[in-house]
Amino acid sequence: MQLAFDDDGPGPVLVLLHGFPLDRSMWSHQQSSVGSIYRVIAPDLRGHGHSAAPDGIYTVDAMADDVIELLDGLQLTEPLVIGGLSMGGYVALSIASRYPERLKALMLLSTRAVGDSPEAALAREALAKQVEAAGSAEPVIEAMLPRLFARQTFERHPELVARWHGRMARTQPRAIAGTLRGLATRPDRTAELPRIAVPTLVLAGAEDHMVLAGAKDQVVPLDESIAMARAIPNARHAVIADAGHLMPIENHQATDAAILEFLQTLW
Ligand code: MLT
Repeated sequence: MQLAFDDDGPGPVLVLLHGFPLDRSMWSHQQSSVGSIYRVIAPDLRGHGHSAAPDGIYTVDAMADDVIELLDGLQLTEPLVIGGLSMGGYVALSIASRYPERLKALMLLSTRAVGDSPEAALAREALAKQVEAAGSAEPVIEAMLPRLFARQTFERHPELVARWHGRMARTQPRAIAGTLRGLATRPDRTAELPRIAVPTLVLAGAEDHMVLAGAKDQVVPLDESIAMARAIPNARHAVIADAGHLMPIENHQATDAAILEFLQTLW
């Protein structure tokens, strides 16, 4: 699967994987700040941004295979720092589990190791059907947008929210449905966390209240993010203030600082 991607900057490589239903432009702040020191590679995962949107179910493992194929194509077979936000974090965890030799370090932003509960998986299927019936991304945007940003982002930066609404709306309905079905069937990787041997940074937005399609058990509470970091032997955890689920967009200064501080410990 050919992925659209950005590849810019000097120095050691950092791969950044976006969330759902977003695209690689969510890393634009990090591309300019972190990217002044590191080579940042940011792909559009399948079905998102400018990458192809095939039919079928987009499993997290297939997305991880796409990223490995991209890195192989760039002849980057040495261990790299790979980070992801939310869905991108599920993909990064898939790489950690299935391609551990490709990892130098891991960054997990606004994400979780557990899979969907049966109720959450059913809610995703209902949403996938709504998106297919509507022929538009709107049902998923309506369900997700209120949960992606902190309250102060809605109040102080409505233009940011409007911009991301517009970008999400460009995602093709079949890609949204395929991704929802893939997310619903992703494996629970909690038991694998103690085997992650590389340094890991776990970041949580102080106001992340991720709830999808009314499935309240999908909230990612801070406790869960802290527990994930505790289960990984060499992990550090940080909370990003004034940010919800999309901390690299909402409080990029604090997110960049946390990422840069972590990267400095690696070289
Ligand atoms: C994301 O931001 O990538 C999604 O909220 C992930 C999910 O729905 O599980």
